[in-house]
Amino acid sequence: MPHNRSKEEFHDFVRKLEQQALETAEERHPIYIKAGLKDARLVLDVGCGSGVVTKDVAMHTNGYVIALDDSPDMLEVAKQVLHGMDVEIVVGDAHMLPFADNTFDIAICNLFLMWVKDPQKVVNEMARVIKHGGKVVATLEPDFGAKIHWPPYPKVDEIFAGKAIRNRGGDPYIGRKLRMLFVRAGLETEVGIGNKRIWSCEEDKASYIRARDFYWKVLRREGLSEEEIKDWEEKHLKSIEEGIEFNFFPQFYAIGIKP
Ligand SMILES: C[S@@+](CC[C@H](N)C(=O)[O-])C[C@H]1O[C@@H](n2cnc3c(N)ncnc32)[C@H](O)[C@@H]1O
Repeated sequence: MPHNRSKEEFHDFVRKLEQQALETAEERHPIYIKAGLKDARLVLDVGCGSGVVTKDVAMHTNGYVIALDDSPDMLEVAKQVLHGMDVEIVVGDAHMLPFADNTFDIAICNLFLMWVKDPQKVVNEMARVIKHGGKVVATLEPDFGAKIHWPPYPKVDEIFAGKAIRNRGGDPYIGRKLRMLFVRAGLETEVGIGNKRIWSCEEDKASYIRARDFYWKVLRREGLSEEEIKDWEEKHLKSIEEGIEFNFFPQFYAIGIKP
């Protein structure tokens, strides 16, 4: 998400993060357990955004959490979301983390590497600030190239299969690059599929209704007319009602140990 956004876009983005956090909670929690988050003493959440996922991170550890983002506006929201929790909020750029080498037990991020200018530099920085034996964890990073959807609506499918992300400055194919990024940062790396769910039509419908404004805005921004969007929506909802809508959208995780 670019930083030069309007107030309305900012508000929509915060709502979208909240929805995503809810929808991905059951995929992230097993990764927290696998990474040993509970026993970490000092955890860094990089690109914490509005803090909705940091809240989950803090609830899964007995340790102290530092949450970092480079957007002061986002951190204002995070202050409210994380009020009363054992979390310190820091403004900073993930390409130059303002921490000494070998400081944290775990440096974690969620839906973040896809949005940074230089993901290799960021993972290198996360590796630098963890202790030897500590872990860098990317919980969910998508790969839109592996998105499968039926029935087809080509003009809209291509937008949600990566075009919209690329046009907003993100990397829609970050998922397949996770292993490379972690290995090149010198980490002993394990990658896996964090989200392999095929949603039921009921889940698809609920998600669409919650995020309808977001979908319409993206499609308008990508140049579709009101008529085209209406036509797509009608067909989309019809296939959900019929119970035939199929949506597969993998998100990957990586856990890297610093030797
Ligand atoms: C999609 S949001 C994810 C937020 C949160 N991790 C979540 O899952 O809800 C990405 C966040 O990364 C932040 N960000 C982007 N580039 C950054 C950078 N270079 N350093 C720190 N934060 C950055 C943005 O401000 C935004 O809050």
